[in-house]
Amino acid sequence: MKYSQTNFNNKTILITGGAGFIGSNLAFYFQEHYPDSRIIIFDCFRSEAKFSNGNLQSFGHYKNLIGFTGDITCGNINNPDDLALLNHNKFDYIFHQAAISDTRVYDQEIVMKTNVNSFYWFLEKAKKDNATLIYASSAATYGSMPSPQKIGFENPENPYGYSKYAMDQIAAQFSKKNPNIKIIGLKFFNVYGSKEYFKAKTSSMVIQLGHQILKGMSPKLFYGSDEIFRDFVYIKDVIQANIKACNSSKNGVYNVGSGKARSFQDIVNILQTNLGSNLEIEYFDNPYNGYQMHTQADISSTMNDFDYRPAYSLEDGISEYIPEIIRLIDETI
Ligand SMILES: NC(=O)c1ccc[n+]([C@@H]2O[C@H](COP(=O)([O-])OP(=O)(O)OC[C@H]3O[C@@H](n4cnc5c(N)ncnc54)[C@H](O)[C@@H]3O)[C@@H](O)[C@H]2O)c1
Repeated sequence: MKYSQTNFNNKTILITGGAGFIGSNLAFYFQEHYPDSRIIIFDCFRSEAKFSNGNLQSFGHYKNLIGFTGDITCGNINNPDDLALLNHNKFDYIFHQAAISDTRVYDQEIVMKTNVNSFYWFLEKAKKDNATLIYASSAATYGSMPSPQKIGFENPENPYGYSKYAMDQIAAQFSKKNPNIKIIGLKFFNVYGSKEYFKAKTSSMVIQLGHQILKGMSPKLFYGSDEIFRDFVYIKDVIQANIKACNSSKNGVYNVGSGKARSFQDIVNILQTNLGSNLEIEYFDNPYNGYQMHTQADISSTMNDFDYRPAYSLEDGISEYIPEIIRLIDETI
């Protein structure tokens, strides 16, 4: 489904992080609807390097891009020589998704260098090319601020959340000095859906719980999961927001969620209904301090300024996603 009247054909579109979950969905959206657009992906894909938490340092995967026919540059946003490879192009649109997306990386230096330092380069490139820049911020900027989370009331509680918060401040300053360049930050809430599988342990609980159930294992939840709420937003609604943001009436940061809070218990119940199972849930103690108990995006400005209209309930999103969850059950990560 096309989300806007803008004709992206004959436009040059950069997608950083295009081998990842959201970036690859964006790439296929443009490929499908605007076959005459020129799409360029910039991503470092994955090496075998891991952070001290045991997770890979980046989650891009070639399998997310099978069928993609545009251009691809494998490069690191921390490396100026790699970034310089992009200078051969003049972009009309930049969708900046590349980042350390793992919220549990606590090495502040690497998170700040990767997520923040590189951002200046993309701001300058947007200015030079007169490109529209849409970048990924995050609901993690809110920490445990009460629901509904509202723009302007952030209080990040980990380095990742802070890095996105810093990007928002930098973008605001840049916008003040360069009001003619369109720059929009999108604070994604808990995104789930197609092409997230290769994020492994950092993928959504929808696919992780789905695979536990498909393997006949008891789905594992924290005690009290019927009272731990998140704003789960389906990938297609996130793509809608990215596309419509290009037509925003003003620069700024916007929440991208469903606008509804649902519990982890709801996810298990919906999955079990779809998969025809009735496994007993295994509850265990939540090991995390400072765990967010309730997120729910205030999406009023997103609706007002660029007509964002989330279309998927948790039930609809999970039911559309089920065939892929089943298909990936034996896929190696
Ligand atoms: N998925 C969510 O629920 C969610 C929520 C809030 C914000 N976000 C943000 O949205 C963006 C996309 O997230 P995602 O879920 O698709 O994650 P992802 O990890 O699948 O995608 C990020 C991509 O960036 C690439 N990357 C990482 N470090 C890089 C580097 N140094 N140089 C070049 N490429 C690099 C990775 O290889 C990966 O392909 C990220 O900025 C993330 O922080 C995601």
